[in-house]
Amino acid sequence: MQKIISLCKRRGFVFPGSEIYGGLANTWDFGPLGVELVNNVKQLWWKRFVKDREDIVGISSAILMNPKVWAASGHLKGFADPLVECKKCHIRLRADHLKESYNNQCPGCSGKDFTEERQFNLMFKTFIGPVDDEASTVYLRPETAQGMFVNFANVQNTTRLKLPFGIAQIGKAFRNEITPGNFIFRVLEFEQMEIEYFIEEKDWEKTFDYWQAEMKSWLVDALGVNPGNFVIREHEKSELSHYSKKTIDFEYKYPFGQEELYGLAYRTDFDLKAHKLSLEGMVPHVIEPTFGVERTILALLCDAHNEEKDRVVLKLKPALAPYKVAVFPLLANKPELVEKARKVFEMLKNDFTAVWDDRGNIGKRYYSQDEIATPFCITCDFDTLQDDTVTLRDRDSMKQERIKISELKNILSERLL
Ligand code: GAP
Repeated sequence: MQKIISLCKRRGFVFPGSEIYGGLANTWDFGPLGVELVNNVKQLWWKRFVKDREDIVGISSAILMNPKVWAASGHLKGFADPLVECKKCHIRLRADHLKESYNNQCPGCSGKDFTEERQFNLMFKTFIGPVDDEASTVYLRPETAQGMFVNFANVQNTTRLKLPFGIAQIGKAFRNEITPGNFIFRVLEFEQMEIEYFIEEKDWEKTFDYWQAEMKSWLVDALGVNPGNFVIREHEKSELSHYSKKTIDFEYKYPFGQEELYGLAYRTDFDLKAHKLSLEGMVPHVIEPTFGVERTILALLCDAHNEEKDRVVLKLKPALAPYKVAVFPLLANKPELVEKARKVFEMLKNDFTAVWDDRGNIGKRYYSQDEIATPFCITCDFDTLQDDTVTLRDRDSMKQERIKISELKNILSERLL
């Protein structure tokens, strides 16, 4: 985990939040490479689950919602974790974490005396307007889901979609977690990619199975995650959220243990009933596949991180890599090579996310690109000036081949699929 965190910082994937002021615990910022990776994941998800399908449409709803939403959805009452405090060192912990991870012993002082469990609501509160009283209280949404439920009628009326159909959304969610941590695994502010899939009650089991297979295929086929690195686990009755009748988690084997990556829940008609929404006299039921962006990034980094003999290589699928191709002149102090390489770079940069590098020697540049997952490197050398060919080097096999500049675009397009 330390190696991944340090690579993220060193290469600009993830920085500690507010770092120059000493940071703010459990907040993180995505850097130049991190934001490209995040955007690639979100675009891939949106294409696969919204654009390529006729039965799912997207929305983007407001983070601040009328507090009545959270009363009706049950979050004001039920979205809470059991909190205990160590009587000696006053560390606060989730009661279930204390039992499962720490064997009822305080991780701070090894004490065994704790306060009674009390329910701690995870929603962040804020205020609208100049007066911070009860009447002006609003909440930062703890899930994107409710924005889709409250827009159910608006979406159905404007699209005229018939059951089964879905609404999808990508957006921020906020949770005042009692024990956040493990890098970007459990944070206070994160992004969710969620689908609310509306069905007739009789279809819930087959739809659940369908989405379970879809989520697995997203992980394995779209993201390239090794199927041996995650497992599917069904929730015990006692673990189920207040709205769910059946939930499974996709759990990833992170370096710190096997923990939740994604969830799939049968939310019954709980939400639409709570908001008093129906369609042609009946209340649709809901299957909800939910995907956390930060946990996707963490799983991808863990999965793709390889240490080989003398290099570190991130073997991300080309579609996810922040840069698709790096272009180098063999020597930075030979203007004719730099000029030729610049021409190749200019030719490629509109079609592929390309990066220029002329620092250090070629070997170092290759390794530097391997570490940030760039699938291909192109070097212009003295032969290039004679015959218009370049060296194309493959990240995973490290093989190098001579390619005509005129064929570069076609070859890259084929191999970057
Ligand atoms: N609408 C359903 C829902 O919100 P959830 O299991 O509470 O379900 C969905 O959250 C996903 O959001 C999780 O599977 C995880 O990927 C992500 N997630 C939840 N809490 C998180 C946190 N504190 N930090 C990072 N990601 C989180």
